[in-house]
Amino acid sequence: MPIMKSDTSLAPATALIHHGYKPPSGFESAQPGIFKASTVIFLNTAALRARDWKEKNGYTYGLHGTPTTFTLEERIATLEGGRHSLLVPSGLAAIALVDLALLRSGDEVLIPDNAYGPGKELARNELAGWGIAHRFYDAMDVDALAATIGPQTRLVWLEAPGSVTMEFPDLAGLVRVARERGVTTALDNTWGAGIAFDAFALPGGEAVDISMQALTKYPSGGGDLLMGSVTTRDEALHLKLKFAHMRLGWGVGANDAELLLRSLPTLALRYAAQDAAARTLAEWLGQRSEIERVLHPAYPGSPGFMHWQATCKAAAGLFSVVFDARYASEQVDAFVDALHLFKIGYSWAGPVSLVVPYHVAGMRSKPTPYAGVVVRFSIGFEAVEDLLADLQQALHRAFGDA
Ligand SMILES: Cc1ncc(COP(=O)(O)O)c(C=O)c1O
Repeated sequence: MPIMKSDTSLAPATALIHHGYKPPSGFESAQPGIFKASTVIFLNTAALRARDWKEKNGYTYGLHGTPTTFTLEERIATLEGGRHSLLVPSGLAAIALVDLALLRSGDEVLIPDNAYGPGKELARNELAGWGIAHRFYDAMDVDALAATIGPQTRLVWLEAPGSVTMEFPDLAGLVRVARERGVTTALDNTWGAGIAFDAFALPGGEAVDISMQALTKYPSGGGDLLMGSVTTRDEALHLKLKFAHMRLGWGVGANDAELLLRSLPTLALRYAAQDAAARTLAEWLGQRSEIERVLHPAYPGSPGFMHWQATCKAAAGLFSVVFDARYASEQVDAFVDALHLFKIGYSWAGPVSLVVPYHVAGMRSKPTPYAGVVVRFSIGFEAVEDLLADLQQALHRAFGDA
Protein backbone atom coordinates (compact mmCIF):
# COMPACT_ATOMS: atom_id res chain seq x y z
CA MET A 1 0.00 0.00 0.00
CA PRO A 2 1.67 3.29 -1.05
CA ILE A 3 2.19 5.89 1.61
CA MET A 4 -0.17 8.79 0.98
CA LYS A 5 0.89 12.41 0.92
CA SER A 6 -1.55 13.08 3.72
CA ASP A 7 -0.30 10.23 5.94
CA THR A 8 0.20 11.97 9.28
CA SER A 9 0.89 8.83 11.32
CA LEU A 10 4.59 8.95 10.31
CA ALA A 11 7.19 10.86 12.26
CA PRO A 12 8.67 13.73 10.18
CA ALA A 13 12.00 11.89 9.83
CA THR A 14 10.22 8.92 8.23
CA ALA A 15 7.80 11.01 6.21
CA LEU A 16 10.64 12.98 4.64
CA ILE A 17 12.28 9.74 3.48
CA HIS A 18 9.10 7.87 2.49
CA HIS A 19 7.25 10.85 1.08
CA GLY A 20 4.22 10.02 -0.99
CA TYR A 21 4.28 12.96 -3.39
CA LYS A 22 5.02 12.08 -7.01
CA PRO A 23 5.42 14.96 -9.46
CA PRO A 24 3.12 14.67 -12.47
CA SER A 25 4.55 12.78 -15.42
CA GLY A 26 4.81 14.40 -18.82
CA PHE A 27 7.46 17.03 -18.04
CA GLU A 28 9.42 17.76 -21.22
CA SER A 29 12.57 19.82 -21.68
CA ALA A 30 15.57 19.74 -24.01
CA GLN A 31 17.81 19.11 -20.99
CA PRO A 32 17.79 15.52 -19.73
CA GLY A 33 16.74 14.85 -16.14
CA ILE A 34 19.54 13.82 -13.80
CA PHE A 35 19.09 10.74 -11.60
CA LYS A 36 21.37 10.01 -8.67
CA ALA A 37 21.07 6.62 -7.02
CA SER A 38 23.03 3.58 -6.01
CA THR A 39 19.95 1.54 -5.05
CA VAL A 40 17.18 0.99 -7.56
CA ILE A 41 13.78 0.18 -5.96
CA PHE A 42 11.83 -2.81 -7.32
CA LEU A 43 8.04 -2.79 -7.05
CA ASN A 44 7.99 -6.39 -5.79
CA THR A 45 10.14 -9.52 -5.61
CA ALA A 46 8.87 -10.75 -8.98
CA ALA A 47 10.19 -7.55 -10.58
CA LEU A 48 13.52 -8.02 -8.77
CA ARG A 49 13.82 -11.64 -9.99
CA ALA A 50 12.78 -10.74 -13.53
CA ARG A 51 15.46 -8.11 -13.98
CA ASP A 52 18.49 -8.85 -16.17
CA TRP A 53 21.23 -6.30 -15.38
CA LYS A 54 22.61 -6.57 -18.94
CA GLU A 55 19.41 -5.33 -20.55
CA LYS A 56 18.87 -1.62 -21.05
CA ASN A 57 15.07 -1.87 -20.77
CA GLY A 58 15.06 -1.34 -17.00
CA TYR A 59 17.20 -0.69 -13.95
CA THR A 60 18.93 -2.99 -11.47
CA TYR A 61 21.57 -1.07 -9.54
CA GLY A 62 23.25 2.33 -9.92
CA LEU A 63 26.48 0.73 -11.10
CA HIS A 64 24.66 -1.01 -13.97
CA GLY A 65 22.99 2.14 -15.19
CA THR A 66 20.58 4.96 -14.43
CA PRO A 67 18.56 7.06 -16.89
CA THR A 68 21.44 9.56 -16.72
CA THR A 69 24.26 7.16 -17.56
CA PHE A 70 22.18 5.33 -20.19
CA THR A 71 21.49 8.68 -21.86
CA LEU A 72 25.16 9.63 -21.84
CA GLU A 73 26.18 6.19 -23.17
CA GLU A 74 23.75 6.53 -26.07
CA ARG A 75 25.03 10.01 -26.93
CA ILE A 76 28.68 8.91 -26.84
CA ALA A 77 27.83 5.92 -29.07
CA THR A 78 26.22 8.34 -31.55
CA LEU A 79 29.20 10.72 -31.36
CA GLU A 80 31.59 7.86 -32.14
CA GLY A 81 29.46 6.31 -34.88
CA GLY A 82 29.20 3.15 -32.77
CA ARG A 83 26.27 1.19 -31.33
CA HIS A 84 27.21 0.59 -27.70
CA SER A 85 29.20 2.63 -25.19
CA LEU A 86 30.39 1.95 -21.66
CA LEU A 87 31.43 4.69 -19.23
CA VAL A 88 34.38 4.41 -16.85
CA PRO A 89 35.96 6.81 -14.35
CA SER A 90 38.84 8.02 -16.58
CA GLY A 91 40.41 7.68 -20.01
CA LEU A 92 43.12 5.48 -18.52
CA ALA A 93 40.42 3.26 -16.96
CA ALA A 94 38.94 2.88 -20.47
CA ILE A 95 42.31 1.62 -21.74
CA ALA A 96 42.54 -0.74 -18.75
CA LEU A 97 38.98 -2.01 -19.30
CA VAL A 98 39.78 -3.01 -22.89
CA ASP A 99 43.00 -4.75 -21.80
CA LEU A 100 41.40 -6.59 -18.87
CA ALA A 101 38.32 -7.65 -20.83
CA LEU A 102 40.19 -9.03 -23.84
CA LEU A 103 43.55 -10.33 -22.63
CA ARG A 104 44.39 -13.49 -20.73
CA SER A 105 47.62 -15.08 -19.54
CA GLY A 106 49.65 -16.21 -22.58
CA ASP A 107 48.17 -13.55 -24.87
CA GLU A 108 50.08 -10.68 -26.44
CA VAL A 109 49.07 -7.04 -26.97
CA LEU A 110 50.76 -4.70 -29.47
CA ILE A 111 50.98 -1.02 -28.57
CA PRO A 112 52.28 1.90 -30.66
CA ASP A 113 55.63 3.10 -29.39
CA ASN A 114 54.24 6.66 -29.43
CA ALA A 115 51.08 5.77 -27.47
CA TYR A 116 49.89 7.53 -24.30
CA GLY A 117 52.54 6.60 -21.72
CA PRO A 118 50.44 5.26 -18.81
CA GLY A 119 48.80 2.67 -21.14
CA LYS A 120 52.30 1.39 -21.94
CA GLU A 121 53.12 1.33 -18.22
CA LEU A 122 50.02 -0.79 -17.57
CA ALA A 123 51.37 -3.33 -20.08
CA ARG A 124 54.89 -3.20 -18.60
CA ASN A 125 53.65 -3.75 -15.05
CA GLU A 126 50.22 -5.27 -14.31
CA LEU A 127 49.76 -7.06 -17.66
CA ALA A 128 53.31 -8.43 -17.61
CA GLY A 129 52.76 -9.61 -14.02
CA TRP A 130 49.70 -11.57 -15.12
CA GLY A 131 51.62 -13.30 -17.92
CA ILE A 132 50.32 -11.07 -20.74
CA ALA A 133 53.10 -10.16 -23.17
CA HIS A 134 53.38 -6.84 -25.00
CA ARG A 135 55.46 -5.38 -27.79
CA PHE A 136 55.71 -1.80 -28.96
CA TYR A 137 55.48 -1.19 -32.70
CA ASP A 138 56.21 1.73 -35.02
CA ALA A 139 52.76 3.09 -35.85
CA MET A 140 54.11 4.82 -38.97
CA ASP A 141 55.07 1.50 -40.58
CA VAL A 142 52.15 -0.75 -41.62
CA ASP A 143 54.49 -3.50 -42.81
CA ALA A 144 56.25 -3.49 -39.44
CA LEU A 145 52.92 -4.11 -37.70
CA ALA A 146 52.16 -6.93 -40.14
CA ALA A 147 55.51 -8.51 -39.31
CA THR A 148 55.02 -8.05 -35.55
CA ILE A 149 51.60 -9.71 -35.25
CA GLY A 150 52.20 -13.25 -34.01
CA PRO A 151 50.10 -16.30 -33.09
CA GLN A 152 49.55 -15.02 -29.52
CA THR A 153 48.57 -11.47 -30.56
CA ARG A 154 44.99 -10.83 -29.43
CA LEU A 155 44.82 -7.05 -29.41
CA VAL A 156 46.40 -4.21 -31.40
CA TRP A 157 46.18 -0.74 -29.89
CA LEU A 158 46.07 2.27 -32.21
CA GLU A 159 46.41 5.97 -31.44
CA ALA A 160 45.99 8.85 -33.86
CA PRO A 161 48.05 10.95 -33.66
CA GLY A 162 50.79 9.67 -31.36
CA SER A 163 51.11 11.28 -27.93
CA VAL A 164 53.32 14.39 -27.78
CA THR A 165 55.16 13.77 -31.09
CA MET A 166 51.84 13.86 -32.99
CA GLU A 167 52.64 11.45 -35.87
CA PHE A 168 49.40 10.62 -37.72
CA PRO A 169 49.46 6.94 -38.79
CA ASP A 170 47.85 5.20 -41.76
CA LEU A 171 44.99 4.11 -39.51
CA ALA A 172 43.09 2.27 -42.23
CA GLY A 173 46.26 0.39 -43.25
CA LEU A 174 47.01 -0.66 -39.64
CA VAL A 175 43.41 -1.80 -39.12
CA ARG A 176 43.45 -3.78 -42.38
CA VAL A 177 46.61 -5.64 -41.40
CA ALA A 178 45.13 -6.58 -38.00
CA ARG A 179 41.73 -7.52 -39.48
CA GLU A 180 43.33 -9.78 -42.11
CA ARG A 181 45.03 -11.64 -39.25
CA GLY A 182 41.88 -11.86 -37.14
CA VAL A 183 43.21 -9.57 -34.39
CA THR A 184 40.95 -7.10 -32.55
CA THR A 185 41.83 -3.41 -32.88
CA ALA A 186 41.25 -0.74 -30.23
CA LEU A 187 41.78 2.94 -31.00
CA ASP A 188 42.54 5.66 -28.47
CA ASN A 189 40.30 8.22 -30.16
CA THR A 190 40.75 10.99 -27.59
CA TRP A 191 42.32 13.40 -30.10
CA GLY A 192 39.69 12.80 -32.81
CA ALA A 193 36.91 12.91 -30.18
CA GLY A 194 34.42 11.54 -32.74
CA ILE A 195 34.67 14.87 -34.60
CA ALA A 196 37.86 14.75 -36.69
CA PHE A 197 37.08 11.37 -38.27
CA ASP A 198 34.78 8.37 -37.94
CA ALA A 199 36.71 5.47 -36.42
CA PHE A 200 34.06 3.05 -37.68
CA ALA A 201 34.22 4.36 -41.28
CA LEU A 202 37.87 4.77 -42.20
CA PRO A 203 39.22 5.12 -45.75
CA GLY A 204 38.81 1.94 -47.79
CA GLY A 205 35.82 0.88 -45.69
CA GLU A 206 37.97 -0.18 -42.71
CA ALA A 207 36.61 0.14 -39.16
CA VAL A 208 38.21 -0.26 -35.76
CA ASP A 209 36.61 -2.82 -33.45
CA ILE A 210 36.78 -0.58 -30.37
CA SER A 211 37.08 3.18 -30.01
CA MET A 212 37.89 4.54 -26.56
CA GLN A 213 38.09 8.16 -25.51
CA ALA A 214 39.18 10.14 -22.52
CA LEU A 215 35.92 12.10 -22.21
CA THR A 216 38.03 14.15 -19.79
CA LYS A 217 39.28 16.09 -22.83
CA TYR A 218 37.06 17.43 -25.66
CA PRO A 219 33.65 16.00 -24.70
CA SER A 220 34.01 17.66 -21.30
CA GLY A 221 35.85 20.78 -22.45
CA GLY A 222 35.67 22.15 -18.91
CA GLY A 223 38.88 20.76 -17.47
CA ASP A 224 36.79 19.83 -14.44
CA LEU A 225 36.05 16.10 -14.65
CA LEU A 226 37.56 12.71 -15.43
CA MET A 227 35.74 10.05 -17.47
CA GLY A 228 36.36 7.54 -20.24
CA SER A 229 34.25 5.64 -22.74
CA VAL A 230 34.59 2.39 -24.66
CA THR A 231 32.50 2.20 -27.84
CA THR A 232 31.84 -0.73 -30.15
CA ARG A 233 29.57 -1.79 -32.98
CA ASP A 234 29.76 -5.53 -32.46
CA GLU A 235 27.25 -6.92 -29.96
CA ALA A 236 29.39 -9.87 -28.79
CA LEU A 237 32.44 -7.66 -28.26
CA HIS A 238 30.33 -5.14 -26.36
CA LEU A 239 29.00 -7.88 -24.06
CA LYS A 240 32.52 -9.11 -23.33
CA LEU A 241 33.49 -5.56 -22.31
CA LYS A 242 30.24 -5.09 -20.40
CA PHE A 243 30.79 -8.20 -18.28
CA ALA A 244 34.30 -7.04 -17.38
CA HIS A 245 32.94 -3.55 -16.67
CA MET A 246 30.35 -5.03 -14.29
CA ARG A 247 32.87 -7.27 -12.51
CA LEU A 248 35.37 -4.44 -12.10
CA GLY A 249 32.77 -2.03 -10.78
CA TRP A 250 34.02 0.93 -12.79
CA GLY A 251 30.85 3.03 -12.79
CA VAL A 252 30.70 6.82 -13.03
CA GLY A 253 29.03 9.38 -10.79
CA ALA A 254 25.88 11.18 -11.89
CA ASN A 255 27.39 14.62 -11.19
CA ASP A 256 30.12 13.99 -13.75
CA ALA A 257 27.66 12.45 -16.23
CA GLU A 258 25.52 15.57 -15.78
CA LEU A 259 28.46 17.85 -16.61
CA LEU A 260 29.16 15.85 -19.75
CA LEU A 261 25.53 15.90 -20.87
CA ARG A 262 25.67 19.67 -20.55
CA SER A 263 28.95 19.92 -22.50
CA LEU A 264 28.18 17.62 -25.44
CA PRO A 265 25.90 20.00 -27.37
CA THR A 266 28.80 22.47 -27.76
CA LEU A 267 31.48 19.88 -28.54
CA ALA A 268 31.59 20.45 -32.31
CA LEU A 269 31.75 24.24 -31.89
CA ARG A 270 34.46 24.06 -29.25
CA TYR A 271 36.49 21.58 -31.28
CA ALA A 272 36.33 23.79 -34.39
CA ALA A 273 37.34 26.91 -32.44
CA GLN A 274 40.28 25.19 -30.76
CA ASP A 275 41.31 23.67 -34.10
CA ALA A 276 41.33 27.08 -35.82
CA ALA A 277 43.25 28.78 -33.00
CA ALA A 278 45.83 25.98 -32.83
CA ARG A 279 46.47 26.12 -36.58
CA THR A 280 47.04 29.90 -36.42
CA LEU A 281 49.52 29.56 -33.55
CA ALA A 282 51.29 26.53 -35.05
CA GLU A 283 51.67 28.41 -38.34
CA TRP A 284 53.11 31.43 -36.51
CA LEU A 285 55.54 29.34 -34.46
CA GLY A 286 56.62 27.53 -37.63
CA GLN A 287 57.99 30.86 -38.97
CA ARG A 288 60.16 31.47 -35.88
CA SER A 289 63.89 30.81 -36.04
CA GLU A 290 63.86 29.25 -32.53
CA ILE A 291 61.61 26.45 -33.77
CA GLU A 292 63.07 23.63 -35.82
CA ARG A 293 59.83 21.80 -36.53
CA VAL A 294 56.08 21.99 -35.94
CA LEU A 295 54.39 18.70 -35.05
CA HIS A 296 50.72 19.20 -35.94
CA PRO A 297 48.94 16.57 -38.05
CA ALA A 298 47.29 19.22 -40.25
CA TYR A 299 50.56 21.10 -40.83
CA PRO A 300 52.25 20.20 -44.15
CA GLY A 301 55.56 18.52 -43.44
CA SER A 302 54.42 17.15 -40.09
CA PRO A 303 54.80 13.36 -39.79
CA GLY A 304 51.77 11.63 -41.29
CA PHE A 305 50.27 14.81 -42.79
CA MET A 306 49.13 12.80 -45.84
CA HIS A 307 47.36 10.24 -43.63
CA TRP A 308 45.66 13.05 -41.71
CA GLN A 309 44.49 14.50 -45.05
CA ALA A 310 43.14 11.13 -46.18
CA THR A 311 41.38 10.40 -42.88
CA CYS A 312 40.29 13.63 -41.21
CA LYS A 313 38.09 16.63 -41.79
CA ALA A 314 39.35 18.53 -38.72
CA ALA A 315 42.14 18.56 -36.15
CA ALA A 316 42.21 19.03 -32.39
CA GLY A 317 43.66 22.13 -30.72
CA LEU A 318 46.80 20.28 -29.73
CA PHE A 319 50.29 20.46 -31.23
CA SER A 320 53.97 20.33 -30.37
CA VAL A 321 57.05 22.17 -31.56
CA VAL A 322 60.66 21.01 -31.59
CA PHE A 323 63.04 23.73 -30.44
CA ASP A 324 66.29 24.13 -32.30
CA ALA A 325 68.90 21.78 -30.82
CA ARG A 326 71.19 24.74 -30.11
CA TYR A 327 68.99 25.64 -27.14
CA ALA A 328 69.64 23.87 -23.84
CA SER A 329 66.77 22.33 -21.92
CA GLU A 330 67.08 25.12 -19.28
CA GLN A 331 66.57 27.78 -21.94
CA VAL A 332 63.41 26.10 -23.22
CA ASP A 333 62.22 25.75 -19.63
CA ALA A 334 62.81 29.51 -19.23
CA PHE A 335 60.54 30.09 -22.26
CA VAL A 336 57.82 27.87 -20.72
CA ASP A 337 58.18 29.63 -17.35
CA ALA A 338 57.91 33.04 -19.04
CA LEU A 339 54.46 32.27 -20.47
CA HIS A 340 51.60 33.96 -18.60
CA LEU A 341 48.40 32.74 -20.25
CA PHE A 342 49.63 29.23 -21.05
CA LYS A 343 49.64 27.32 -17.77
CA ILE A 344 52.08 24.47 -17.13
CA GLY A 345 50.07 21.29 -16.75
CA TYR A 346 48.96 17.98 -18.22
CA SER A 347 45.78 17.19 -20.11
CA TRP A 348 44.13 19.19 -22.88
CA ALA A 349 40.89 20.51 -24.38
CA GLY A 350 39.85 22.68 -21.45
CA PRO A 351 39.29 26.47 -21.50
CA VAL A 352 42.82 27.28 -20.29
CA SER A 353 45.73 26.91 -22.71
CA LEU A 354 48.38 24.52 -21.41
CA VAL A 355 52.05 23.86 -22.09
CA VAL A 356 54.46 21.04 -21.16
CA PRO A 357 58.13 20.56 -22.19
CA TYR A 358 59.14 16.95 -22.91
CA HIS A 359 62.38 15.05 -23.40
CA VAL A 360 60.91 12.54 -25.84
CA ALA A 361 64.02 10.34 -26.12
CA GLY A 362 63.23 8.75 -22.75
CA MET A 363 59.59 8.15 -23.75
CA ARG A 364 60.27 5.86 -26.74
CA SER A 365 61.90 2.45 -27.10
CA LYS A 366 63.60 3.56 -30.38
CA PRO A 367 65.57 6.79 -30.95
CA THR A 368 63.46 9.76 -32.09
CA PRO A 369 64.63 12.10 -34.87
CA TYR A 370 64.34 15.14 -32.57
CA ALA A 371 67.53 16.47 -30.98
CA GLY A 372 65.88 19.58 -29.49
CA VAL A 373 63.37 19.86 -26.64
CA VAL A 374 59.74 19.19 -27.62
CA VAL A 375 57.11 21.51 -26.17
CA ARG A 376 53.42 20.59 -26.40
CA PHE A 377 50.66 23.17 -26.44
CA SER A 378 46.97 22.59 -25.75
CA ILE A 379 44.95 25.55 -26.98
CA GLY A 380 42.06 26.74 -24.85
CA PHE A 381 39.42 29.41 -25.45
CA GLU A 382 41.46 32.57 -24.92
CA ALA A 383 41.54 35.09 -27.80
CA VAL A 384 44.15 33.91 -30.27
CA GLU A 385 45.82 37.36 -30.46
CA ASP A 386 46.43 37.27 -26.69
CA LEU A 387 47.96 33.78 -26.92
CA LEU A 388 50.15 34.93 -29.78
CA ALA A 389 51.37 37.96 -27.83
CA ASP A 390 52.11 35.68 -24.86
CA LEU A 391 54.22 33.35 -27.04
CA GLN A 392 56.02 36.34 -28.54
CA GLN A 393 56.96 37.91 -25.19
CA ALA A 394 58.08 34.55 -23.74
CA LEU A 395 60.25 33.77 -26.79
CA HIS A 396 61.82 37.20 -26.48
CA ARG A 397 62.48 36.79 -22.76
CA ALA A 398 64.05 33.36 -23.12
CA PHE A 399 65.97 33.73 -26.38
CA GLY A 400 66.33 37.47 -26.97
CA ASP A 401 66.32 38.53 -30.65
CA ALA A 402 67.03 35.05 -32.02
C1 LIG B 1 45.71 10.16 -25.65
C2 LIG B 1 45.23 10.02 -24.25
N1 LIG B 1 44.53 8.92 -23.91
C3 LIG B 1 44.09 8.72 -22.66
C4 LIG B 1 44.34 9.64 -21.67
C5 LIG B 1 43.87 9.36 -20.27
O1 LIG B 1 42.79 10.13 -19.92
P1 LIG B 1 42.46 10.41 -18.37
O2 LIG B 1 43.31 11.57 -17.97
O3 LIG B 1 41.00 10.70 -18.38
O4 LIG B 1 42.79 9.17 -17.62
C6 LIG B 1 45.05 10.80 -21.97
C7 LIG B 1 45.32 11.81 -20.91
O5 LIG B 1 46.12 12.71 -21.06
C8 LIG B 1 45.52 10.99 -23.28
O6 LIG B 1 46.25 12.07 -23.62
